[in-house]
Amino acid sequence: MSPTSAFQTAIVPAAGLGTRFLPTTKSVPKELLPVVDTPAIELVAGEAAEAGAERLVIVTSPEKSSVARHFEPRPELERTLEERGKTALVEKVRRAPQLIRAEVAIQEQALGLGHAVACARPNLNDSDEAVAVLLPDDLVLPTGVLSRMAEVRERFGGSVLCAFDIPREQISAYGVFEVEDTGVEDVLRVHGMVEKPAPEDAPSTYAAAGRYLLDRAIFDALDRITPGAGGELQLTDAVALLISEGHPVHVVVHRGGRHDLGNPGGFLRAAVDFALSNPEYGPELREWLRHVVADPAGTIEGGTRSN
Ligand code: G1P
Repeated sequence: MSPTSAFQTAIVPAAGLGTRFLPTTKSVPKELLPVVDTPAIELVAGEAAEAGAERLVIVTSPEKSSVARHFEPRPELERTLEERGKTALVEKVRRAPQLIRAEVAIQEQALGLGHAVACARPNLNDSDEAVAVLLPDDLVLPTGVLSRMAEVRERFGGSVLCAFDIPREQISAYGVFEVEDTGVEDVLRVHGMVEKPAPEDAPSTYAAAGRYLLDRAIFDALDRITPGAGGELQLTDAVALLISEGHPVHVVVHRGGRHDLGNPGGFLRAAVDFALSNPEYGPELREWLRHVVADPAGTIEGGTRSN
């Protein structure tokens, strides 16, 4: 456990159907799609482990068990690669199981994010005073915000969420915070939270961005909420309930970058971004992109699809 770690358990809701990635997601879970060569689930597991998490509870459906299998060792594959002298690849194969202990919680029905988080409750230990929740659709960059959130929990208690300042016209895709200054840079006290408000009703432009450090009290709140926005059991409503009962909630405003892996357009941006800084693929990709962008047709002959 790192010195600032306020949690050992990280929950990753991953039961969605991935409809925006059909037909691929007929058989491949969205969370296993590669950002260059690493699946999104390993990226968020790495982020959780870096912040001190020892256990990853993957909330998923029975059909998506391959998401958790990514964290199982593959001794035979390792042996084959070793025999061929592919040591760098052996390291890649070993990374996920070495990062964190993964386990599965089953969500039988997609009843909302709040319901998904509640499904992880039986997996908790008595010592879990707080849990981290990471939405695998959101990549928050650079990593490190969870450690900052842990420091804020240590100072103010309660629950701490990550916020992005979002243009108001896009705000209705998010959970939005009603906030007040604390005097600490980029740390705001939250007085209310509302899921997917109309832009004119949004209490601010600070939106939840897929990283939560939640006091264990959230599970009792999750038991008491009723369906909210979209007819779903919303995590936002459980946070709002805690606030109304006097539970301290703060946000850390993250000024870095973010990728939305939840749709093919955002996913491609993330893949290109990661690939550009990859020593193996970056330089050539940069060159190729320059040509593509300069080409009036926008594609390079041979790279275009005929259908
Ligand atoms: C979920 C949350 C929302 C949050 C968003 C961040 O919404 O319900 O509060 O702002 O993730 O990505 P979803 O994107 O699943 O609709």
